[in-house]
Order: sequence, then C-alpha cells, then structure tokens
Amino acid sequence: MSDPPVRWDERLRRFVVTGHRAVVAVLQDPAAYSSRVAPQVPAGDRELLAGFTQWSASWLFFLDPPEHTARRTPVAKSLAPRALAPVEHHAIELAAQLPTAFDAVADFAHPLAARVVAEVLGDTGAGFFARARAMERASANARDPAARRAGLEAIAAAVTALRSTVDEVTGAHSLMLMFAGIETTQNLIANTLHALLTHPGTWDSALPEAVEEGARYAPPVRGVLRRTTRAVVLAGVAIPAGAELVALTAAANRDPAVFTHPDRFDPARRPNRHLTFGLGRHYCPGAELTRRTTIAALAALRARHPGLRLTGPAPRWRDHDPLVHAPVSLLVTGAGQG
Ligand code: HEM
Repeated sequence: MSDPPVRWDERLRRFVVTGHRAVVAVLQDPAAYSSRVAPQVPAGDRELLAGFTQWSASWLFFLDPPEHTARRTPVAKSLAPRALAPVEHHAIELAAQLPTAFDAVADFAHPLAARVVAEVLGDTGAGFFARARAMERASANARDPAARRAGLEAIAAAVTALRSTVDEVTGAHSLMLMFAGIETTQNLIANTLHALLTHPGTWDSALPEAVEEGARYAPPVRGVLRRTTRAVVLAGVAIPAGAELVALTAAANRDPAVFTHPDRFDPARRPNRHLTFGLGRHYCPGAELTRRTTIAALAALRARHPGLRLTGPAPRWRDHDPLVHAPVSLLVTGAGQG
C-alpha cells in the first residue's frame, strides 16, 4: 500500500506532505501555508551568527505577501536571463584545467557554481571564493566540530566583509544568494552526473532533458517548510492553525499518479512536472541559472572526458540537513578514453 499523501510525523513534530497534488496545493496557497518558518540557530552559535540571523530574517524564503512580493522583484531581475554570467565559458575553462582523475564536486561543481554566483553578485575577489569553500566544507563535514566551526566563522566573516563594503539590504541579498545558489547548483551537477554515470547508456543523453530528470530523480533540495495560518483540511487530513509542515517535493517527484515508472531514471522523460524548484510565488528565481549552469557543466565534462566514469568506493552522502541530498565527493576518471 502506498503512503498517505499527508501524515503527522511524531519524531519531526511536523506534518509531512508527500503526494504531488497535496504538495502543489500547499505551495500554491501562501495565505493558508505561510513561509514564516525561519531555521533555528542552536543556542551555542547565536552570538557568532547574530549578523547572519538578522539578515536571514529578511530573505525571501521566509516572507509572505505583501512583503515578499515587494522584495522579490529586484531579486528576480538580478537573476533574469540577460543578467546571467557567461556560464558556458566558465564551464569550458574549468573543465580544460581538470586532470584525468579528479573529484567532480571539489574540483569542478563547487568552483563552477561559486564562480557563477560571484559573477551575479559582482564579487569575484579571492575572499568570496574562500568563504564559499569554507561554507561548503562545513556542510560536507558537519559532524567534524572543527570543520563546522570553520564554516560558521566563514558565514560570520562574510557578514563582516559585506558590512564593510555595502549597505545592509545589499549585504543580506548577497548572503542569501550565496546560500541559495552555490551548494544547490553544485549539488544538482553532482547528482545528475552521478545518475548518468550509474545508469549505463545514459551518459550521452540529450542534456536539457537529462538535467530536468536529474532534478526530478535526485533533487538536491528535498522539500520546503510551511506553517498553517488557519485550520485546514489537506488530502482529507485535518491540520490545526499554527502547525508546521514539510512539503516533500522529492517525494512528490516520485508520485506514480503523475510520473510513469517514477523510480526509474529516464533522461528522456517528457513531460516532467517535477517540483524541485518549488511552485507559485516562491518558485526558485535561480532555476534558469542553475539549469543553464548544470547543462553547461555536463557538456563541458563530456567534451573533456567522453569516457568519464566513477572510481573508488560508493560516495558518502551529505548529512548536515535532512532536506539536502548530494554526495560529499564524487571521484571520477577520464582515463583510457577521450
Ligand atoms: C539546483 C539548484 C536549486 C534548487 C533545487 C533550488 C530550489 C529552490 C526552491 C525549492 C525554492 C522555493 C522555496 C520555497 O518555496 O520555500 C527556491 C527559492 C529560491 N531560490 Fe532556488 N534553487 C536552486 C538554485 C538557485 C540559484 C542558483 C539561486 C540564485 C543564485 C537561487 C535562488 C533562490 C531564491 C532567492 C529563492 C527564494 C525565492 C522566494 O522565496 O521567492 N536558487 N529555490
């Protein structure tokens, strides 16, 4: 028997929404399902992250209309296609420098994603890349106290650096795009690459469709949080006002009512109505940028190493956040071919 589309999870203390239809209903109704569910910073980190907490409270993810509507327009403009950095050029340039055997996350996906966001923000200084790398390493090694601490310090340093150069609104915006755009894109490249390399015969697939399927099949972001503003009934389940729920877009992406053979990685799948970039007012404004970057990344890798394959043990998956899904590293080699 399949899981119910909505259920209470005692361990999470949240309702969990998994059905495609129910997730769509949540995402399309910001009046009933508020986005004001900012993450809680652990008590021991509050002092160090005071600047971060102050800024992140103004991030689009956590706002509702009308405040959200007013703030979204300039963000969407900054990410509009004509404003996009020359991502193809960066992908080719980075791929050309790759050795035969490398880590596709640390040596390629991360630097490319950081470069693209740096260009959008107009901050291509060494400090930006060092902070982006430290933040990434912290999430990759969240159980290592030293790496975690280094990551938190990088976040605090990013706030300090931004405060000394730009006003508060611009600073908060820049930090938001660092968080929203770098690891997500890096992880979509890594997940799609992993899917292509572990499903024989798919490496040469047409890329726009393959990237879309990568986003559906192995989404780097597995869900979003909401809080009910009033009592609602969702897929027959009564939910009281003020309840938190997690809309699991990754589960909706496998709903057999919408996708045939949902557990199959089918790089030619069409249509592909996945919810990895959300829906409605909060729909990811970086979706086009990330799609273009991932397509460019895989095209450049394929051109550089036509016979690319995985090496080493099965990858370790990130475990710092249950809503993030991506490998810590992805060891590959182009040896022998190309
Ligand atoms: C694979 C890559 C990405 C994924 C899976 C992803 C996913 C998402 C999702 C699911 C949302 C909606 C959140 C919600 O409804 O609460 C969102 C919003 C957002 N994303 Fe992305 N994103 C990606 C890449 C990017 C990039 C590259 C940028 C910018 C450089 C970006 C910037 C944003 C911003 C600013 C929002 C907030 C929009 C709003 O609340 O109105 N994202 N993203």
